[in-house]
Amino acid sequence: MKVLVTGGVGYIGSHTCVELLNAGYEVVVADDLRNSKEEALNRVEKITGKRPYFYKEDVCDKKAMERIFSEHKIDVIIHFAGYKAVGESVAQPVKYYRNNLNSTLVLLDCMEKYDVKTLIFSSSATVYGMPDSNPITEDESLKPINPYGRTKYMGELIIRDFMDAHPEKSAVLLRYFNPVGAHESGILGEDTPDTPNNLMPYIEKVVAGKFPHLRVFGNDYDTPDGTGVRDYIHVVDLAKGHLAAITYAMEHTGTECINLGTGTGYSVLDIVHAFESASGVPVPYIITQRRPGDAATCYSNPSKAKELLGWQAKENIEDMCRSAYNWTKKNPDGYGE
Ligand code: UD1
Repeated sequence: MKVLVTGGVGYIGSHTCVELLNAGYEVVVADDLRNSKEEALNRVEKITGKRPYFYKEDVCDKKAMERIFSEHKIDVIIHFAGYKAVGESVAQPVKYYRNNLNSTLVLLDCMEKYDVKTLIFSSSATVYGMPDSNPITEDESLKPINPYGRTKYMGELIIRDFMDAHPEKSAVLLRYFNPVGAHESGILGEDTPDTPNNLMPYIEKVVAGKFPHLRVFGNDYDTPDGTGVRDYIHVVDLAKGHLAAITYAMEHTGTECINLGTGTGYSVLDIVHAFESASGVPVPYIITQRRPGDAATCYSNPSKAKELLGWQAKENIEDMCRSAYNWTKKNPDGYGE
C-alpha cells in the first residue's frame, strides 16, 4: 500500500513517515522544504532502514503533483503540508489562504483524476477557537479566531463537500491538540525557528541557554494555577493516530472529524516543572502579559478516536518532556544548515 505524505519532511510528517515505514507502507513524500530540512529524511532512513521516495515540490503545483500520481499508484494521501504560524497568518492572510487551500484543492483534483479513495487531513484543535466548554468533543461549535485556524476550518468544509460528491471515497479530518516531544532515538524532532512561538520548543531553547528565561503569558486565567491549560500529546502517539485513521478510512466511506489528544490538560507551570524533573535542568521563567488570542483552557475528549480508530495516546507528560530534552541535547541547532 502506497501513501503520499505531503509535508512529510516536517515535524509531524517525518514522525508519521517513521511509523508508516515501520508498519510496511510504501511512502512517497512531497515537500518543497520551505519550512523543513531534507536532513529529516536522512534521519527517517537511519531509524527505519528505509528511505521514502522524495519529491521536492510545492503541493500547490498541480503539474508536479500530477507527475507524482502518474509515477506512483497512490492508495492514501496524508496531507500535512501547510503554513501554521498564527501571528504570521494575521499579518499575511492571503498567503495563508492561497497556500493552505490551494494545496488541498490540487490534491482533491488528483484524488478524482487518479482514483485515490482515501484522504487523511491534518486539521487542528484551533478550529474550535475559544471553546465553550472542556473537554472538547467533536460536536463543539467551530469558530476559529485567526486566518490560520480558518484555513483549517475551510479545508475541512471543502473536503466534506468533495466527499459528499464522491460517496465511494473517504476522509478523516484529524484535529490535533498540542503535539510535543520527539522520537525516542533522539535524532528526529522539531526543528524550530530561532525564536519559537510555541511553549515546548521555547523551553528547549531556554534549557539550551539560548534565552535567559521563559515568558509565561499570563497567570491570571481561571485555571488551577492561573496559567493556560492545554492538551499536550506526544508526536509519536499522534503519528500512530494517522495509521489508525488509514485503517478506519479504508474500511469506511464518507467524512469523519476526530480529535487527537490525550484528554488531560496541563498548565504552563505544570510543563515547566515536568521539564525540569525530566531534564534535571532548571527552567527560569517570568510572568508577562497574556498573549492575545489565547484561550484559558483547551483539552480534548478523545473518546471518538478510541471508539472509531481503536487508538489512544500512551505516552505521559514525563515521556514527552524526556524525549524533547533528549532531542534538544543531541541536536542543539536542530538539523543545522
Ligand atoms: C498554538 C496556536 C495554535 C496551533 C498550535 C500548534 C496560538 C494562539 N495558537 O496553540 O493555533 O494549532 O500552537 O501547536 O498561537 N506559552 C507561554 N510562553 C510561550 C509560549 C506559550 O506561556 O513562550 C503558553 C501559551 O500562552 C499557552 C501554552 O503556553 O497557554 C501553549 O502555547 P503554544 O505552545 O503556543 O500552543 P497553543 O497556543 O495552544
